[in-house]
Amino acid sequence: VAPLRVGIAGLGTVGAEVVRVIEQQQRTLAARCGRPVRVVAVTARSKAKKRGVDLSGIRWAKSPLAIATDPEVDCFVELIGGVDEPAGPAIEAALAAGKSVVTANKALIAKHGLKLAALAEKHGVALNYEAAVGAAIPVIKTLREGLAGTDIHRIYGILNGTCNYILTRMEQEGLSFDACLKDAQRLGYAEANPAFDIDGHDTAQKLSILASLAFGTKVAQSAVHVEGITSITPEDLRAAADLGYRVKLLGVAVRTPQGIEQRVHPTMVPKTSSIAQVMGVTNAVTIDGDGIPPITLVGAGAGAAATASAVVADIADVARGIRAEPFGRPVGKLKVITKAPMQRH
Ligand code: HSE
Repeated sequence: VAPLRVGIAGLGTVGAEVVRVIEQQQRTLAARCGRPVRVVAVTARSKAKKRGVDLSGIRWAKSPLAIATDPEVDCFVELIGGVDEPAGPAIEAALAAGKSVVTANKALIAKHGLKLAALAEKHGVALNYEAAVGAAIPVIKTLREGLAGTDIHRIYGILNGTCNYILTRMEQEGLSFDACLKDAQRLGYAEANPAFDIDGHDTAQKLSILASLAFGTKVAQSAVHVEGITSITPEDLRAAADLGYRVKLLGVAVRTPQGIEQRVHPTMVPKTSSIAQVMGVTNAVTIDGDGIPPITLVGAGAGAAATASAVVADIADVARGIRAEPFGRPVGKLKVITKAPMQRH
């Protein structure tokens, strides 16, 4: 059987880990997919950088666009990040050239997901972005496929590993916000610009993607009410603990009679609740569907191995020839409320 020929743009910690996992898991992957998966081309800003991964036998392409349009690549994997050049145009070029695309780029999916989905559909190829939300947690697949027959009325959770890591260590060790953030950066959890994490925007991007999938609305990141965790001190966490609470940065999207409400803010949750048990870099997503008890998915929300796990699963779907509807079609009757009323849960 012909192998799936994969081209990867971006060899940061996640990209290098994806190359390593595909190499290490090649027999398992071939068995699970019914065909081999091979990385045939890669590109990154620096060819010389040490990455601790064997790139011999893999072609070095001159740019992301060169991989996206390479006739010997079947699946384009974008791990560069960022909304504009070079990630966005390279993904469009790959889809237009009839290649399936796998990306971990939440900013791009939150902003241009529907446009890219239409392009993927036009060319009959897949657009997979499991790693964009909750890293190792298969939440996109759960919403797109597992819950395709369920009417969802609420989806919420802890969607940023960096913030949960900071809040956990501040609470448990009384460390300062800055010290915890530095460790999150050192461990590879934080965004290149960590303001996206701590200001809540990373959570808002992920929430808007989940809400779109859950409710069949357009992705509407600009309609999310966003508050981050920058003003939270160890004293706040101690005061909350004295009252029997923990503070978590939650993203919440709810279907109301007025439309879909989306918000991100620090929330006091009872210490005995299951969401209060989610500590460190772990993420958790709870989905409330009509007629079924809530479903909660918990797992590593950031880091190279967790993100690579989702990227490789997406590549495996391409190898198997599975092409899920990237977003589902907006159902039309639901609107996204732009000024969500403030509520505390
Ligand atoms: N910076 C993100 C986080 C990475 O901390 O959750 C995973 O999306």
